[in-house]
Amino acid sequence: MALKVPAAPFTFVVHALGLVGLILVLVWTIHFRGGFAWEDSNKNLIFNLHPLLMLIGFIVLGGEAIISYKSLPLSKDVKKLIHLVLHAIALVLGIVGIYTAFKYHNESGIANLYSLHSWLGIGVIVLYAIQWLYGFLTFFFPGGSAYLRSESLPWHVVFGIFIYVLAVTTATLGFLEKLTFLQNSGLAKYGSEAFLVNFTAILTVLFGTFVLLSVASQGPSSADDYSYSAI
Ligand code: HEM
Repeated sequence: MALKVPAAPFTFVVHALGLVGLILVLVWTIHFRGGFAWEDSNKNLIFNLHPLLMLIGFIVLGGEAIISYKSLPLSKDVKKLIHLVLHAIALVLGIVGIYTAFKYHNESGIANLYSLHSWLGIGVIVLYAIQWLYGFLTFFFPGGSAYLRSESLPWHVVFGIFIYVLAVTTATLGFLEKLTFLQNSGLAKYGSEAFLVNFTAILTVLFGTFVLLSVASQGPSSADDYSYSAI
């Protein structure tokens, strides 16, 4: 069910939006929220690592990994390697990013896992890890039979898109939740920081949208990309 348009323009928008998203989250966490720390008496600096690592990991690198088959004019094997390595980096950043949220809560005496955002977040990381492991074992090493791979590929694609959409949803809920906490503690509702956080969340949604458009359109060598051995 591919769109009959080339993926390249969509993939360029993905790269550009990823860069802008990274800049926006850095401006927010450094300029408005005081920067980062692993150990500090100001526990907010530990929390700031959470949105940064989640955005770079699950959203930007996860999205780039998904579109690697559509954005790179390389051989299938190289694209497969790039796909799995980008997803592995995304997963590691996601694990460290979620750890920083727990670390911030534990060191500040705040309860864990009380919000919809955190529940969906646990769902995302668990599904992401299962998806990566199954993909690695089936399509890379040791690799399943030709039959298993061709049967698995459509499920891998559908689950991968589902998990990615869930990650984008979870990230936007995170921005909403943090901004609501800040506004309830006195942050101006129409102030520049509130606009910045809302725009970063909108940009996250747009980034995800262009990832999906890239997936649905025609890559450099679409005939190869749809065969089971492409992943
Ligand atoms: C896909 C990306 C994300 C995932 C998977 C995720 C996951 C999680 C998880 C599992 C927790 C629970 C930590 C605990 O209970 O100790 C959490 C906490 C939190 N996250 Fe995220 N997060 C993501 C992105 C973001 C973003 C972009 C923000 C924006 C600021 C954010 C804001 C928060 C806040 C405010 C908390 C503490 C309150 C709460 O537990 O709900 N998250 N996140």
